[in-house]
Amino acid sequence: MDHISFTPFPVLETERLLLRRVERSDAKYIFRLRSDEKYCKFTGIKKYKDINEAIKYIDRIHKDIENKECILWSICSKDTNEFIGGISLWDIKDKEKQSEIGYDLLPEFRGEGYIQEAIKVVICYAFNELNFRKIVAEEVRTENIKSMKVLEESGFEVIKKYEVVNEDGNKEERADHSLLRTKF
Ligand SMILES: CC(C)(COP(=O)(O)OP(=O)(O)OC[C@H]1O[C@@H](n2cnc3c(N)ncnc32)[C@H](O)[C@@H]1OP(=O)(O)O)[C@@H](O)C(=O)NCCC(=O)NCCS
Repeated sequence: MDHISFTPFPVLETERLLLRRVERSDAKYIFRLRSDEKYCKFTGIKKYKDINEAIKYIDRIHKDIENKECILWSICSKDTNEFIGGISLWDIKDKEKQSEIGYDLLPEFRGEGYIQEAIKVVICYAFNELNFRKIVAEEVRTENIKSMKVLEESGFEVIKKYEVVNEDGNKEERADHSLLRTKF
């Protein structure tokens, strides 16, 4: 993956937001997100019980960024410089020129259009700077209406919908989405 470089880290900016590298000082916010029952249900992430799990996660992300396997930005409000959420391009496949997209917001910052603003600038970066052909959002729980809506409004198409049996033994519908550079 020679031509992809995340050094120096690509800080991105929008009208209201600054997207910078995730840092250990963000651990308390990431812990708050990942220790929330509903968040874990929607994302399939195993519930965190200890802030050290968030610190370990951040350290692992730093390694993945170094290895160009993923990139994760902390989304900060320009007004307050405060962490409000995160957005990532992960499972980067250099040959296929594609990656997954992931995102979240602390509950008190939802309903303001921040994620759509962040997705827009990250998609531009992926297509224009990284030269990606495709961005996908797979296995999205269709019950996660907010996320389904964000993807649709950001131009993603549902490629397929299917049912899976989740860890609790219950049936659950999921959807795979994709956004092609040619349709952007
Ligand atoms: C998914 C998630 C990020 C969506 O957050 P969100 O706040 O609904 O998304 P946006 O930031 O795009 O905001 C859209 C909402 O803001 C409103 N809004 C307010 N001001 C706005 C503005 N200036 N521009 C656009 N929308 C605006 C929109 O009307 C919309 O509200 P509605 O959904 O009630 O119609 C959030 O629910 C979340 O963090 N969930 C947990 C993690 C998760 O599920 N991640 C995805 C896994 S697949």
